[in-house]
Amino acid sequence: MAGTTHRIKSVEESIRDTDEPEHRLRKNLSGLDLTVFGVGVIIGTGIFVLTGVVAKEQAGPAVSVSFVIAGIVCGLAALCYAEFASTVPVAGSAYTFSYATFGEFLAWIIGWDLVLELALGAATVAVGWSGYLGQLLSDLGLELPSAIAGDDAPVDVPAVAIVLAMTAVLVLGIKLSSRVTAVIVAIKVAIVLLVIAVGVFHLSADNYSPFVPPAQPAAEGDTGWHSPLVELLGFAQGTFGWGGVIAGASIVFFAFIGFDIVATAAEETKDPKRDLPRGIIGSLLICTVLYVAVSLVVVGMQNYTELSTEAPLANAFSAQGMPVFSGLISLGALAGLTSVVMILMLGQSRVLFAMSRDRLLPPGMAKVHPTYGTPYRITIGTGLFVAVLAGAVPLDVLAELVNIGTLFAFLLVSLGVVILRRTRPDLPRSFRVPFSPVLPIVSAVACLWLMLNLPAETWGRFLVWMAIGIGAYFVYGRSHSRVGRARAAEETSSTAS
Ligand code: ALA
Repeated sequence: MAGTTHRIKSVEESIRDTDEPEHRLRKNLSGLDLTVFGVGVIIGTGIFVLTGVVAKEQAGPAVSVSFVIAGIVCGLAALCYAEFASTVPVAGSAYTFSYATFGEFLAWIIGWDLVLELALGAATVAVGWSGYLGQLLSDLGLELPSAIAGDDAPVDVPAVAIVLAMTAVLVLGIKLSSRVTAVIVAIKVAIVLLVIAVGVFHLSADNYSPFVPPAQPAAEGDTGWHSPLVELLGFAQGTFGWGGVIAGASIVFFAFIGFDIVATAAEETKDPKRDLPRGIIGSLLICTVLYVAVSLVVVGMQNYTELSTEAPLANAFSAQGMPVFSGLISLGALAGLTSVVMILMLGQSRVLFAMSRDRLLPPGMAKVHPTYGTPYRITIGTGLFVAVLAGAVPLDVLAELVNIGTLFAFLLVSLGVVILRRTRPDLPRSFRVPFSPVLPIVSAVACLWLMLNLPAETWGRFLVWMAIGIGAYFVYGRSHSRVGRARAAEETSSTAS
């Protein structure tokens, strides 16, 4: 393994690879496109579903505080991503950054870890999409047959269908994708604003009291293996109280996932050094403000004990006798989840693209389509993988894996900023994290803290997934690596001369 830790792919090598004709992606995204992309993937299941779950089960009306905490953690990580993306504007995001700082082994680990965030995240949201479709149709008096949708169906057909449809859009080209996204994002933001603007006239002060419900011991069945790891480490937690607010933050964290995906579109951006920081920080800021406002309104409209855990936003309106608004919100949620599925898959295909260009995965996968200019093989492969997961695997438990995987990537990117400043102080950085190394270190610690607030069983699954990844690296990637072969050739020629 000593050999692999020295396999650092320099920033210059990464940028040079993007100019190879067979691996060149089209550069046609602007800063605004990136912000729209960011909002498109950030607003989704998190705000539309998890607000109700966390308020009802963990944080009470203080769910808005959970959103603030998760937003701050993500804001710190976003600064780190922005610095990296402005220094290394190459597809692959955290994977590419790690290659330039920690070396090949950790880069592979991160690439493998990102499958949890991206592919698993897309599958989770696709299943949520199917649920909302069922909800909307039943509002209209139509029912999907239980053989093809719902808990008892062997295959969730609508979830598979939305994944395959989005795969087709992605293969046809990124410009088309960003146009589709722009329309969807407009609908989604309008719906969220509608919730705030209309809901604010239906608040009841009683619903805000107590704002932080008193702490309670965890319910039976939610202890031991199911409790947050931090509790097993000796920190009393239970539900509600401030412990509940923080544990809630580690769940609503899901709502912010996606701003980092803006960085995966680096190679397709016209002026990445200027536009990437704008896209990443801009989209995160917009979403944080909307989330805090929406969560404050929803818990004010309906007592937290009565919130729905499936469609809390729509339900708060129907409970107040406003079914038309409820229907509109369901429609907006459906549109919103569509763009999340699409962009998560886009991010996944770009990370795998970067890994196969580096020969850590078979290189034929990275071929770009001659007409559409997209990595079509990887995109189709990703789509099929996500479709299988979404169609057949029960994802409720696996959803927390998405959070732990993403937090781990954020943690490494935060530490990477500090390391790259030391190892490559010469690189031009159009965006710099202020107060480095303090802020990046605070960011890493904050990510770790949220990880520790996830259940012990999630940690177990996470470690198993990572162990499989390490095995795969030693079986394939290590011996095929492009950087590894280049270093070996350099050594041979220097010994020969
Ligand atoms: N942030 C995305 C969502 O909430 C993943 O659906």
